[in-house]
Amino acid sequence: MGAVSVRGGVPLQGSVTVRGAKNLVPKAMVAALLAPGVSVLRNVPDVADVSIVAGLLGLHGVGVERDVEGGTVLVDAARVANPDVSEVVTHGGTSRIPVLFCGPLLHRLGRAFIPDLGGCRIGDRPIDFHLDALRAFGAVVDKRPDGLDITAPNGLRGAKLTLPYPSVGATEQVLLTAVLAQGVTELRNAALEPEVLDLIAVLQKMGALITVRLDRVIRVTGVGGLRGYTHRAIPDRIEAASWASAALATRGDVYVAGARQGDLMTFLNVFRTAGGEFDVDDEGIRFWHPGGELAPLALETDVHPGFMTDWQQPLAVALTQANGLSILHETVYENRLGFLDALSRMGATVQPYRECLGATPCRFGARNYTHSAVICGPAKLEAAELSIPDLRGGFSHVIAALAAQGTSTIDGVEIINRGYESFTDKLTGLGADIEPVGCGSAAPPLAA
Ligand code: EPZ
Repeated sequence: MGAVSVRGGVPLQGSVTVRGAKNLVPKAMVAALLAPGVSVLRNVPDVADVSIVAGLLGLHGVGVERDVEGGTVLVDAARVANPDVSEVVTHGGTSRIPVLFCGPLLHRLGRAFIPDLGGCRIGDRPIDFHLDALRAFGAVVDKRPDGLDITAPNGLRGAKLTLPYPSVGATEQVLLTAVLAQGVTELRNAALEPEVLDLIAVLQKMGALITVRLDRVIRVTGVGGLRGYTHRAIPDRIEAASWASAALATRGDVYVAGARQGDLMTFLNVFRTAGGEFDVDDEGIRFWHPGGELAPLALETDVHPGFMTDWQQPLAVALTQANGLSILHETVYENRLGFLDALSRMGATVQPYRECLGATPCRFGARNYTHSAVICGPAKLEAAELSIPDLRGGFSHVIAALAAQGTSTIDGVEIINRGYESFTDKLTGLGADIEPVGCGSAAPPLAA
C-alpha cells in the first residue's frame, strides 16, 4: 500500500473539480447489461469501482471502451455470455457492486455467479435484503464457498416488497431486477438518495416504467425489452462535501467545480451552522472558513434527505476545531466511528458512546455498538503516523493531517483512490504539502 507524508498547518486554497458520483456510475454501467445495445455514460471519474465493473463486464463478453481523461464509458451489451466462474472469483473482495449484477444477468442469461463482496469495513454490511428480494422475484440462490450461484428457473416475476430499512443497495437491486420482470413490482420503504434517483433516470431512458412516491413507495411495471442509454452522471456529492470539510478544518477556501446545491442542501445547512461560509454559482460551490471560531453542533446521520453517513467523517475533523462540545450520532452503519481513534491520538478530545446520543433512537442503541461520540474543541492537532481504515475515514485522516502541526505519515492511501479521483494531485493543487513516501525510504521525522 502507498504512503504519503503530509505537512500540516497549511490552509487549502484554490479550486478542484468533482466528476460523476462514485455511488452512481458503476451502477449505471451495470444497468447497461439490461439492453442488447450500446450505452454511453459521461462525467465518469477515474476511480477503482469503475475499473472493477468494467473488468467484470468484460468477463461476461460485454464490450467496454473507456476514455479516462474525457470521462466517457461506452458499454456494448449486444452480447452477454456466461463467464469463467474462476475468473469472476478473482474479483471477490474488491467491491460491493458485483451484487447488483444479479438481476441483469438473470434476465440476460438465466444465471448469475456473484463473488464475495468487498467494500469498506464500516459494519457487517449483510445482503439479506438483496437475497430476500431476488427470491421474491423467483430467483433461486445457492450459497457456495466462493460466491453466490443464482438461477431463475421460472423466470422473474414482479413482487410486492417492503425493505426493513431504506437500503440504497437493496433498492438498486430491486430496480435492476423489476424493470424486465413480468408484471408489477411495488417496493415500500425504498431508498431515495440522489444516486438512486439518477439510476432511475438511466432506467427510464432505457424504456423502463418506474414511479417514485415521496412516501418511499416505488412501483415498476416490467416491460418486454430495454434499449441503450446516453447519460451524464450526477456529480459526487460526497467528494464535494469532503473538500468543503477540508476547507473548514484547515481554515481554507476551496471552490468545488461540479458541486450541485440540490444534492447538498442538508450538508450546506450544517456547514453554515458550524460557521462555514459558502457561495453557490452555476458551475459549482465555493466553501471557506471566514475566520474566527467554529460553532459546535449536534449531528445525526440518516438516510436521504438526512445528513448522509459519508459526510460525517470528514466533517468530524472540522468539529475538533469548533469551540465547544459537538455530538455525533451515526445511525446508518454500526461501526463507522473507528476513525475517531486517530483523531484522539492526534490530540482531539473525543468520547465515544454505545448509547444513541441523538433525537431518534436507532437500530444500534441497545446492541452494544459504539455509534455515538462527543467531540470537545478546539483541539490542537499534532502530526502522527496514520493508517487508512476505510474510504471516508481515510479522507478524514488526510484532513486531520492537513490541520495538524507537524508532518504526518499516512499509510494505505490507495483506499482513498477508490472514491476520490486523483486526490493527491487535487491536494497539491490546493497548496497542500503532500509527498509520496517511497517504500524503503525512511519516513521524514515527525514534528518536534
Ligand atoms: C451505499 O452502500 C453506498 N455505497 C455507501 O457509500 C453509503 O454510505 C450507503 O449506500 C448509505 O447511503 C455504494 O453505493 C457503493 P445500504 P450500501 O444498503 O448500499 C443495512 C462510500 O463510502 N443493510 O444503504 O451498501 C446495512 O448494513 C460508501 O461511498 C442490511 O442490513 O448501503 C446498513 O446498516 C460507504 N441488509 C444499512 O442497511 C442489506 O441487505 C444501509 O446500507 C443491505 C443493507
